[in-house]
Amino acid sequence: MKRKIAAISIIAAMLLSGCQEVQDTSADVSETSNSESTTNSINSADLSTAAQSTKTPEQSESGGAPTVIAPNFKSSAPEKESVPEVEDSVPQVEESVPDNSDVSFENSKPSSLPVNNTVVENGETRTVASGETLEIAEGESLEVEGELIVESGAVLNVLNGGELFVESNVKLEGDIVLSEGGKLTMTHDTAKIEGAGSVVVKKDFEQVNCERGFINAHIAPPERVVGEDGATYVGGIVIANKAITLPPEYGSDLSLDEVYPEVSAALDEMNAASEHQYVNKSGYRSYYDQQAIFQNYCDMYGYDEADTFSSQAGHSEHQTGLTMDLDAFEESYGDTPEGIWLANNCWKYGFIIRYPKGKEDITGYTYEPWHVRYLGKSTAKLVFYSGLTLEEFLDIEGGTTVID
Ligand code: DAL
Ligand code: ZN
Repeated sequence: MKRKIAAISIIAAMLLSGCQEVQDTSADVSETSNSESTTNSINSADLSTAAQSTKTPEQSESGGAPTVIAPNFKSSAPEKESVPEVEDSVPQVEESVPDNSDVSFENSKPSSLPVNNTVVENGETRTVASGETLEIAEGESLEVEGELIVESGAVLNVLNGGELFVESNVKLEGDIVLSEGGKLTMTHDTAKIEGAGSVVVKKDFEQVNCERGFINAHIAPPERVVGEDGATYVGGIVIANKAITLPPEYGSDLSLDEVYPEVSAALDEMNAASEHQYVNKSGYRSYYDQQAIFQNYCDMYGYDEADTFSSQAGHSEHQTGLTMDLDAFEESYGDTPEGIWLANNCWKYGFIIRYPKGKEDITGYTYEPWHVRYLGKSTAKLVFYSGLTLEEFLDIEGGTTVID
């Protein structure tokens, strides 16, 4: 199938001319059916665990038993010391710790715990057993230098002000729950969280720092919220797709083709690192710009065709100010050295290819190897290694039908 996608010069001309008599200078674009999506093929090895887990945050949380073990802070809680009883209204503390050194989180009253000194030492393995919940409370941290196993049905709950540092391995069959304000940091390039369990993010992806290391387990995102600005956010990520609309005034502090400073800084960083030089051909477009563009495409190709590659007003990611079209507007760009490098590496600078090949029914749009969405380095890496579209990663609808 052949289809024409107008180059951005058309868009600019159209906006300048108020959509009157815009000439079609677009190049013919052939679909590249003989080459795999670079992003997808690269990620395939990492997809197995992500694809296995379909648990929702609610399901994950209800899986654990009510017992809570406080972390073992060695300086204040000598090993195997007996622990005081606690009230029903506060987390229950296990009375004894099994001799098995795999289970050695001891009990202490959270209030008496010193900060930042619980470590699963190198060469040591500790297990949060099925049915147990381990809480890391405010001012506490757990550093994993050896191996931590969170069994199926077990929960490691990082509460507000608590921190989990992963330097080496976490085998995750249960859940790591990041309650609002709890933080997870991957501290080394070789750090890994993997298994069929889930990292459940309750509030915001800012809670996860995965610029180093890898999380190859399922990430369960927060519920969506509508901000005071009228936009929809999931885990701090603003969403515009066929099912989720931005209000008309969203982004109106930007001018045409501008992007927010963190996005242009990320582009500069990427260009400094790459042998290729990527050029922003289209950044922010207002609701009204997009309305004119979509109408123009309807006039050129008809509604049904236009709807496969152009967004209706309020549904374009370009209105977020976090998206750019780089270099070219042709599907064959994905097979050029620039396009291949971009697909393989843009996550390192905080971008994802937003509309991958083969995911048209999920994103609602045809393959766009030139359209990048800025998510920040940590989140872009999580999405890239998940092998999922943003819709799948955030568990939100997209689809092929525009919903207003
Ligand atoms: N081409 C993308 C889908 C847009 O119009 O925003
Ligand atoms: Zn675009």
